[in-house]
Amino acid sequence: MRQKRFLIIFIGLLVHVLVISAAVDIKNLNIWPMPKDVSHGHGSLYLDNDFELKTDGSRYPDSSGILKDGFLRLIDLVKGTHVIEANFSHLDSSLLLKGIHIVVSSPSDELQHGIDESYKLYIPAAQGNPLYAHLEVQTVYGALHGLQTFSQVCHFNFTTRAIVVHQVPWTIVDQPRFSYRGLLIDTSRHYQPVAMIKKVIDSMSYAKLNVLHWHTVDSQSFPLEIPSYPKLWDGAYSVSERYTFADAADIVSYAQRRGINVLAEIDVPGHSLSWGIGYPALWPSTDCKEPLDVSNEFTFKVIDGVLSDFSKIFQYKFVHLGGDEVNTSCWELTPHVSQWLQNKHLNGSGAYQYFVLRAQEMALSHGYEIINWEETFINFGDKLSLKTVVQNWLVTGVAQKAVAAGLRCILSNQERWYLDNLDTTWQDFYINEPLTNITDPKQQALVLGGEVCMWGESIDASDIEQTIWPRTAAAAERLWTPYDKLPKDPAQVVGRLAHFRCLLNQRGVAAAPVVGFGRSAPLRPGSCYMQ
Ligand SMILES: *[C@@H]1O[C@H](CO)[C@@H](O)[C@H](O)[C@H]1NC(C)=O
Ligand SMILES: *[C@@H]1O[C@H](CO)[C@@H](O)[C@H](O)[C@H]1NC(C)=O
Ligand SMILES: *[C@@H]1O[C@H](CO)[C@@H](O)[C@H](O)[C@H]1NC(C)=O
Ligand SMILES: *[C@@H]1O[C@H](CO)[C@@H](O)[C@H](O)[C@H]1NC(C)=O
Ligand SMILES: *[C@@H]1O[C@H](CO)[C@@H](O)[C@H](O)[C@H]1NC(C)=O
Repeated sequence: MRQKRFLIIFIGLLVHVLVISAAVDIKNLNIWPMPKDVSHGHGSLYLDNDFELKTDGSRYPDSSGILKDGFLRLIDLVKGTHVIEANFSHLDSSLLLKGIHIVVSSPSDELQHGIDESYKLYIPAAQGNPLYAHLEVQTVYGALHGLQTFSQVCHFNFTTRAIVVHQVPWTIVDQPRFSYRGLLIDTSRHYQPVAMIKKVIDSMSYAKLNVLHWHTVDSQSFPLEIPSYPKLWDGAYSVSERYTFADAADIVSYAQRRGINVLAEIDVPGHSLSWGIGYPALWPSTDCKEPLDVSNEFTFKVIDGVLSDFSKIFQYKFVHLGGDEVNTSCWELTPHVSQWLQNKHLNGSGAYQYFVLRAQEMALSHGYEIINWEETFINFGDKLSLKTVVQNWLVTGVAQKAVAAGLRCILSNQERWYLDNLDTTWQDFYINEPLTNITDPKQQALVLGGEVCMWGESIDASDIEQTIWPRTAAAAERLWTPYDKLPKDPAQVVGRLAHFRCLLNQRGVAAAPVVGFGRSAPLRPGSCYMQ
C-alpha cells in the first residue's frame, strides 16, 4: 500500500513537473479562483508609491471602514514582505498606476446570505494620466473580492524593486456561481487559538470563500462561553482553552469585515457529552451521558438560552443545529427517560424527531433559519421546517433527494470534501460537482453551494493550515467559477493551483505542496512551483 502510494506520488510528480514548468512564467493567467470573464493585454504598469483609494461617486459611506481596511490589506498583500526600493522619479510616469477608483452602489454593509458579491475590475494600459484602476460593485463585499483579484495580478519586480501589474489592460467581470462557499472548523476535538482562527479567515478570503462554519462544541470539549449558562464552558479541556463571548463576537466581526459569515453550530442532541460537565442534569445519567436528556425540560431551556445568546452575536441568517449520529439507546436504557418515552408513546426514533423539531422551533423563534446534518432529512425529512437546509455528508444522492423534496441543500460529501481524509487528493476535491444528477433548474437553485470540512480529531494549530490548503482551494474554484469554465480534467489547472499555493506560502499560510496527498511535505529540493 505504502509503496503503491509512493509510486503514485512519483508518477504524479513527473506529470506535474511537465505541466507545471510553465507556471513560473509570469505571463500565465494565474488567478485563483478563475473569474467568470477575463480579458487582458500585454502591457505593464507600476503601482505608484502612494497608490491610493478613490471612492468618488460611491453611495457607500464606509463609516465602519470595511472598504478602507480592505484597501490597506491589499497594499500589504501586494507588497508582501519586500522593501519597495524603486526610485519613482526614475520610472516612466506614464506607466504609473496612481490608485484604484471603487464605486459601490449599495449604501448597506449588511453581510447576509445571497448578497450581491459581483465585481467589475478594469485596469487600463498606459496613456491617459493620471491612471486609475476601476472597480465597480453593488456591495462593499463585491469590492473585497475585486481587491483580492487585483492582488493576484500584482507582482514585485526584482529589477526595478517596484510592484508591477502585468498583462494590462485587464477587464474582469466576475461573480460567484454559488452563494454558500464554506469551510468547517471544529474547536471541540482540539482547541484552535483565536489567532489561528483569524489566520484561517484571512486565507479563506484569498480564495473567495464566504462562510466559516464554526463547529463550536462537541462531545469532547465545550470551549465557548454561554452567558446564560455560565457553567457550560466547564466542559473546556482546560481553563485557558476557551473563547469568551466577546472573543466569539470579535471573530464574527473579523470575518464579516472580510466578507465572511460565521455559521455557529451546536450539534444536538447527539454530540453533546461535554455539556453535562457543567450541568450534569443534561446527561440521561452519569453512566450514560449522551444524547442530551430528552425527558428533561431543563435541556430545552439550556438550548433556548444558547440560541438566545447566539442571536446576539451570530448575525448570519442560519444557525446549525447538528442532528447527526444520534444513538438513542441511552434514552431507552435509562429508567426515568424510558418512562418518559412510554408516557409520551414515543420510541427512540420518535424522541429523536421530537428533539430536533423542538430545537428547530426555538431557532426559528430567535429569527434563524436552520441547517441540519442529513440524518434528520433521512429519518423525518417531511417533518422538518421548510426553512431547513440539509447538509449532505454521509450518503451519495442525498442532495438530489433533498432538493426534490423542496428543501435547500449544501454539499459536503465525505468521500470528496472531508479534509481530514488525507487520502483525498486535491483532484478529488476539484471534480466534486454539487449539481451532479440535478437537472431541473428549480431544484438546482435549491443547492446553495458546498462546504469542505476540517474535522478536528487530528488537527490543532500545528497542522490545520497545511491540511486545509491547497485542497480547499480546489473546492473554492468549483464553488466560484462558472461550470463551463471548469476543465473536466484537473491536470489542466495544476500549474495555476501550484501558483496559488505558493502565493499562500508567500502570505504566511502554511499551505502544503500540491503534489501528493493531504498535507504531505515536499518530496525533494526544488522551486515552490514544482512541489
Ligand atoms: C531618485 O532619483 C532622483 C533623480 O535622479 C534623485 O535626485 C534622488 O535622490 C533619488 N532618490 C533616492 C531615494 O535615491
Ligand atoms: C522587471 O522589470 C524589468 C525592467 O522594466 C523588466 O525588464 C523585467 O522583464 C521585469 N521582470 C519581470 C519578471 O517581469
Ligand atoms: C449506542 O449506545 C449504546 C450504549 O450507550 C452502545 O452500547 C452501542 O454500541 C451504541 N450503538 C452504536 C451503533 O454506536
Ligand atoms: C418508532 O415509532 C414509529 C411511530 O410510532 C414507528 O413508525 C417506527 O417503526 C418505530 N421504530 C421502531 C424502531 O420501533
Ligand atoms: C448520478 O447518477 C448516476 C447514474 O444513475 C449514478 O451512478 C451516480 O452514483 C449518481 N451520482 C450521485 C453523486 O448521486
